Amino acid sequence: MDIFDAISQRSSVRAYKATDVEEDKLRKILEAARLSPSASNRQDWKFIIVRNKETKKKLARAAFGQSFIGEAPIVIVACGTEPKTFMACGQPAYTVDVSIAFTHMILQAYELGLGTCWIGAFEEDEVKKILNIPKEVRVVAMTPLGYPNQPPSQKFRKSLNEIVCYEKYE
Ligand SMILES: Cc1cc2nc3c(=O)[nH]c(=O)nc-3n(C[C@H](O)[C@H](O)[C@H](O)COP(=O)(O)O)c2cc1C
Repeated sequence: MDIFDAISQRSSVRAYKATDVEEDKLRKILEAARLSPSASNRQDWKFIIVRNKETKKKLARAAFGQSFIGEAPIVIVACGTEPKTFMACGQPAYTVDVSIAFTHMILQAYELGLGTCWIGAFEEDEVKKILNIPKEVRVVAMTPLGYPNQPPSQKFRKSLNEIVCYEKYE
């Protein structure tokens, strides 16, 4: 699949079939994360694969009851392991690095016919408790992963005119 096709056709999936995700597909999605760029190539990240039904339900509750999270066969939880590392520009590296890797995973999943939904609304402390994540590690995002049980949704986006300017900020 063409990269632009994946970017333009992917949409968030909030209903999943019970069908399992094949191991080779999961592996390819994880490889997409592993091969992602990161600041100074630090790769300070960890991706937790959750298949346990009870754990998935707990994660859905920690995400303010977004129950579709628990319905997917897999939930992936993405963590930054060195949150005290800052780039020279002043941004923390982990939010940028983990988000790049997560985006690659989501696009790779789409290419394999699998659905995802970036979940940013969750209680981090709860998620950490459920998954035994150390205190110093930060949870950046999670996503359900599975075969979509809904048609693709329409994209609503600002126009290029609204988001691009040339030569200086306007
Ligand atoms: C950082 C981030 C956090 C998000 N958090 C949630 C969330 O907690 N629950 C949810 O259903 N969707 C969440 N989304 C999905 C967005 O609502 C969705 O990407 C956006 O509306 C555009 O729709 P699309 O993904 O279908 O193109 C999140 C997306 C991003 C990038």
